[in-house]
Amino acid sequence: MTAPTQPVLTARNISITYEVTPPVQAVRDVSLTLNRGEILGLAGESGCGKTTLAYGLNRLLKAPALMTAGEVIFHDRSGEDINVVSLSRDALRTFRWDKISMVFQGAMNSLNPVTTVKSQLFDVLDTHRPGMSRSAKTERAQELLRMVGVDPDRLTSYPHELSGGMRQRVMIAMALALDPQIMIMDEPTTALDVVVQRGIIREIMKLRERLGFAVIFITHDLPMLIEISDRIAVMLQGQIVEEGTAETIYRAPRHEYTKKLLASFPRLRGEHGQFVRGVPASKEQR
Ligand SMILES: Nc1ncnc2c1ncn2[C@@H]1O[C@H](COP(=O)(O)OP(=O)(O)OP(=O)(O)O)[C@@H](O)[C@H]1O
Ligand SMILES: [Mg+2]
Repeated sequence: MTAPTQPVLTARNISITYEVTPPVQAVRDVSLTLNRGEILGLAGESGCGKTTLAYGLNRLLKAPALMTAGEVIFHDRSGEDINVVSLSRDALRTFRWDKISMVFQGAMNSLNPVTTVKSQLFDVLDTHRPGMSRSAKTERAQELLRMVGVDPDRLTSYPHELSGGMRQRVMIAMALALDPQIMIMDEPTTALDVVVQRGIIREIMKLRERLGFAVIFITHDLPMLIEISDRIAVMLQGQIVEEGTAETIYRAPRHEYTKKLLASFPRLRGEHGQFVRGVPASKEQR
């Protein structure tokens, strides 16, 4: 795949404060660009501001969180530039999920326990595609489940009848429902065991290739980001302290914190401290 370089999202000088006493400045002057079709990894320890930044990019912040500075521009595939920060409430409703969708941290536990997978997928389609016929919705819901590796028979299941991995796949299917140009995935696999994680990551990678959406992938798991990302941004205490291609972050990290973060994952290192999971090897397996 040739490197995509056309931006789909540009964020400039974002600052976000939780207006509590004393105030918490969770994001400090962050700028980032997401290119069309790429996977941008966002790494950093717990509490560094990853989720807050993601909410800011998608205008999901609620009081006491306040974006005190910055702008977010979405570059639509139609050629139109959309200023996310100044969108009206109505415009925002059609923008979210349609243009940028999000798989929330802990999402697999946020499915409604009393309705079926089908009715939850229908909800998304009803809200955003009101003209869609029932049969078209059923077809789309089946297609979405197939895309994420879940048997379409599961449409009639309730969340408690599904494994954690399946529930997370359903959340990803919901995020895919409107064919977004950007998916923000906040720790989408953290709660799952490694084998299930791998399966889901593989699926996301395949879908990305096929559908062309860009991904902001948030996790503590830097080794995983190195394998799957095109570029990685490392956050520390509300700031992006280093940004580069996955390969550069892996082979030649500049910031002390990035080095520390890499060193804290023994599975990246062999007996003699050398890196053992080369980026080129894992990229070949894509
Ligand atoms: N509602 C809130 N009120 C006050 N402070 C908050 C609130 N929510 C988050 N914070 C603070 O904002 C900072 C950033 O939190 P955030 O959840 O964005 O971090 P994170 O990097 O996503 O962490 P994790 O990896 O644990 O998910 C933290 O210091 C957190 O304590
Ligand atoms: Mg978080």
